[in-house]
Amino acid sequence: MTHASHSLRPPEDWCENAYDLVRGLAVYSGSMLVDGIAKVIAKHPEGNIANAFNHKQVGCKIWARDKLLESSGPSYRRIVVLGGWYGVLPAMLLEDRRFNIAAVDSYDIDPAVEEVASTLNSAFSDRFRAITADMYALDYQGLGADLLINTSCEHIADLGGWLSLVPSGTRVLLQSNDYFSEPTHISCVSSLDEFRAQAGLAKLDFAGALPMKKYTRFMLIGTV
Ligand SMILES: C[S@@+](CC[C@H](N)C(=O)[O-])C[C@H]1O[C@@H](n2cnc3c(N)ncnc32)[C@H](O)[C@@H]1O
Repeated sequence: MTHASHSLRPPEDWCENAYDLVRGLAVYSGSMLVDGIAKVIAKHPEGNIANAFNHKQVGCKIWARDKLLESSGPSYRRIVVLGGWYGVLPAMLLEDRRFNIAAVDSYDIDPAVEEVASTLNSAFSDRFRAITADMYALDYQGLGADLLINTSCEHIADLGGWLSLVPSGTRVLLQSNDYFSEPTHISCVSSLDEFRAQAGLAKLDFAGALPMKKYTRFMLIGTV
């Protein structure tokens, strides 16, 4: 087969190849999360899992996971993720044996992501739920969370307004960025100091910046 015929392959072919490749990676690595990605490729080819699991997204979430462990420890009764998209971070937390997590709930306003997140986390279905809801419409007192995670702060119009719904003393992990040129980013910040001021947390256990090629990601871990 020539190089030219390789480049003429239809995209459906590539989707099948991606499924085979990722299944192989799952067997090779023993990762239930990677197996979940293979299932998503097969069941939800319309989903943008390649974007949610690109190396920059994964890097930012490994950073979140490591700093969470360092600053807040390994044990959680119920972690609630807001703007959880395809549930990549819940899967990364539930698979990580350093943690002891009884439950993770992932809320997102987009109904199209619920099933994809459930498929991705199918190996953890006894501890994971994906729920379609607006994070501004939740009763945070009633959620029973001992940690709220929002790595989608650049996607919500009013971070301070959202945090005002959260009972004081609640532990939170927040990420935002300075990637202003992305049209869906309606609330970027220019610096870590601006993010700190926007969030106005009562207690801060970690504040840091992670430079990526095109933007810098900012993270705060503390209590409201
Ligand atoms: C592109 S994704 C996640 C980006 C983020 N950097 C990450 O990987 O965690 C942003 C998500 O926030 C969700 N979202 C935006 N506004 C929301 C709201 N009010 N309540 C719940 N989810 C929301 C969107 O539907 C989308 O799935």
